[in-house]
Amino acid sequence: MLVRYLCRMLQPFVIAIDGFSSSGKSTLAKQLAEKLNLKFVDSGAYYRAVTLYFIEHNISFQNPDLLIEALQAIDVLFEYDAIQKQSKTFLNGINVENKIRDMQVSELVSEVSALSPVRKFVSNTLRNINDQKGLIMDGRDIGTVVFPDAQLKIFLTANEKTRSERRFLEMKNKGAEVTEYEILQNLSGRDLLDSTRKTAPLKQAGDAVVIDNSNLSLQQQLEIATKFAETALQKYLRK
Ligand code: DC
Repeated sequence: MLVRYLCRMLQPFVIAIDGFSSSGKSTLAKQLAEKLNLKFVDSGAYYRAVTLYFIEHNISFQNPDLLIEALQAIDVLFEYDAIQKQSKTFLNGINVENKIRDMQVSELVSEVSALSPVRKFVSNTLRNINDQKGLIMDGRDIGTVVFPDAQLKIFLTANEKTRSERRFLEMKNKGAEVTEYEILQNLSGRDLLDSTRKTAPLKQAGDAVVIDNSNLSLQQQLEIATKFAETALQKYLRK
């Protein structure tokens, strides 16, 4: 009994959700986290917060020593407001949740997240977010690099048109001045950079289950994912 308990303390239950930009990873992760009482972490928000810090402090991407120094000054915290169903990202104590979704950050985040010192720093930090409740983390390399032993890996996908329409509506609802064309360009550009970069490129883990949500409602997608999650959780608890 004690050995089992200690094993679980050392290796908490983790669900990794990876996939292309705007495939709905965070939406699904938030819903599942609430349903299964897990801690939700949006790893993309971490890369976005780092990008915002670099923009605001004029950090040049060319000098690895300066990058490493700048990274030491970055502290990112996540908070989830279960009542408003909103996550908040704090960069050095300031709520930057809206700022990190701006086009200015979206245009640079793939370049920043491809930098080796940045990947090393963020991956290590993400790995150390340990929560005894268990974790659900979404991103591009969670099932392949950050948590290769995750108990469940979901690769979420949808066709590019569906993804860019969803993103456009989301940005419009927030009052952002963007065109559908700009959104499509940003998505396809980021997908290309994210999946072809040298370090930790976006790819489907060999043992991931694939959910294509192009023609699924949020409810249908949640039902499918919940079945996978419950099976994984039962297996984990039996260990
Ligand atoms: O999930 P998102 O669109 O907010 O992520 C923003 C960018 O961060 C994405 O284009 C690539 C990068 N990213 C990454 O490289 N690795 C992750 N685990 C998560 C995000």
